[in-house]
Formats: sequence, C-alpha cells, structure tokens
Amino acid sequence: MKFTALLAGLVSALLVGASDATTQDVWAPPITYPTAGVVLNYAQTYNFTWDASNPPAQITNQVAAIYLRQNGRTLPIILAGGVPITQGYVLVTIPWVDSGSYQAVFFGDSGNFSPQFSIASPSPFTLN
Ligand SMILES: *[C@@H]1O[C@H](CO)[C@@H](O)[C@H](O)[C@H]1NC(C)=O
Repeated sequence: MKFTALLAGLVSALLVGASDATTQDVWAPPITYPTAGVVLNYAQTYNFTWDASNPPAQITNQVAAIYLRQNGRTLPIILAGGVPITQGYVLVTIPWVDSGSYQAVFFGDSGNFSPQFSIASPSPFTLN
C-alpha cells in the first residue's frame, strides 16, 4: 500500500517534470500594426504593435525582433530587437530603403508576418 502510494507519487512527479519540459509553447502573437496598405515614411517613427494579451504559461523565447521582408524574402534589416515579447509594441524608426511594398517579420518563438505596407523614401539620386 505504502509502496503503491510512493510509486504513484514518483510517477506523478515524473509526469509533472515531463509536462514542464513540454509546455514550452511556441507563441506567434499576431502583428496588429502596421496594417495593410499603410504608408510609412523614411526617418519617421511608428509604433509597431502585436497582440501580447494571451501569452502561454511558458514562453520559449522571451525576446522579440522585427525584420523587414520584401517579395517573400526576409531582409537582413533589423527594425527592432531586444524587445520583451510580452511588451506588445516597439517604436520603429524607418530606415532608408527603396520605396516599395514591405512586410514586417516578427520573430519570437517563430516568425510571423504583418500584412503588406509601403515605405516611402526619398530617392538616393537626388541632391539634398
Ligand atoms: C504604442 O502602442 C502601445 C499599445 O497600443 C501603447 O501602450 C503605447 O503607449 C504606444 N506608445 C507610443 C509611444 O505611442
């Protein structure tokens, strides 16, 4: 009897341990800004936001980064990094890139994409 109880306790402790290791949920909070079709201007600062309202109990990666993506390719252009994933927003100053259509890629546990938005930049071939 005692042995059975001990064994049951041991098994449940092992199960708790096992479930602790597996409840590290992949969390891809949806980007809520930029929204589809907005135009962001070079050198201006915008509040990029994601829905951080429902984090899983355990997050495998606490730190988020936002990259720029164009034509289905994630570019090596970092809009923001070192951001606590639960913060839900970060201020981004738009870098000097060609005017055109882009997406933001939110990297937390996995990567997820914003809708397409535009960046408007001055021509690099105009004297200023
Ligand atoms: C950015 O957006 C977040 C979420 O809506 C808000 O809490 C925060 O105050 C905003 N920050 C600025 C500087 O606008």
